[in-house]
Amino acid sequence: MAVRSALITVMVRAAQKAGRGLVRDFGEVEQLQVSRKGPGDFVSAADLKAEKTIREELQHARPRFGFLMEESGATPGDDEARRWIVDPLDGTLNFLHGIPQFAISIAMEQEGEIVAGVVLNPVTNELYWAEKGGGAYLNDRRIRVSARTAFADSLIGTGIPFLGSRGDKPAYMRDMAVLMPQVSGIRRMGSAALDLAYVAAGRFDGFWESGMHAWDIAAGVLLVQEAGGYATARDGTSSPVHVPEIVAGNIAIHKLLVAALRRANPPAAATPAS
Ligand code: IPD
Ligand code: CA
Repeated sequence: MAVRSALITVMVRAAQKAGRGLVRDFGEVEQLQVSRKGPGDFVSAADLKAEKTIREELQHARPRFGFLMEESGATPGDDEARRWIVDPLDGTLNFLHGIPQFAISIAMEQEGEIVAGVVLNPVTNELYWAEKGGGAYLNDRRIRVSARTAFADSLIGTGIPFLGSRGDKPAYMRDMAVLMPQVSGIRRMGSAALDLAYVAAGRFDGFWESGMHAWDIAAGVLLVQEAGGYATARDGTSSPVHVPEIVAGNIAIHKLLVAALRRANPPAAATPAS
């Protein structure tokens, strides 16, 4: 039986409380008051309510920590070394379309490093969690990245840029053109937090996307790492958390993905020193 620390317990409690509200609202999705934040990027009343619930729960448990939240941005805390990175509803478009593939993502960042992460799909009650050095879990079961090593056998998750996203659309088409003929399948599920959880659980062998924000991926990155995989920026080594791009996978597939994506969109040549 997996033993959850006090920190994970606080995070899980916040996610589950917000999750209960989201599930209720999901059932009435048509009655929700939806406001448009920008093209292709909807914010629902449910999203704002979930963020408020999570903020209250976390603040109550750890009053000194700061926040970086999708809807309300950065709020520094008295403790300058620690903050929560929260996406109260990852997969907003799925939610609004009645598709039960969305999640709450909560990460704890300490001195710039993600040390704990929780991703909850409140519809399926799949709770993914990890703490640095302690492994990754789905509910009470330890999870590991997949053992597949060949592109030809691999199922790869992705996020496709959309109207209003930060993703470079022509560059994404080049990524696709290179990867599509080489892999067993590509899936666009609509929640980056769950996509990374699926890599951690060995369902996906890899994942890539560009145009990300820290709250989409912070918890998921730790899940992948604690499940024995890699999650990096497109250079294959640096942290993806605060840059708008991510490549993740088991070690073999991550390596193949980084190489293929480099072929699709070679990094800009360094400017020669004058
Ligand atoms: C989005 C989802 C989606 C990804 C987008 C994100 P949101 O988050 O994670 O899968 O492709 O880049 O913005 O807007 O549903 O919280
Ligand atoms: Ca998100």
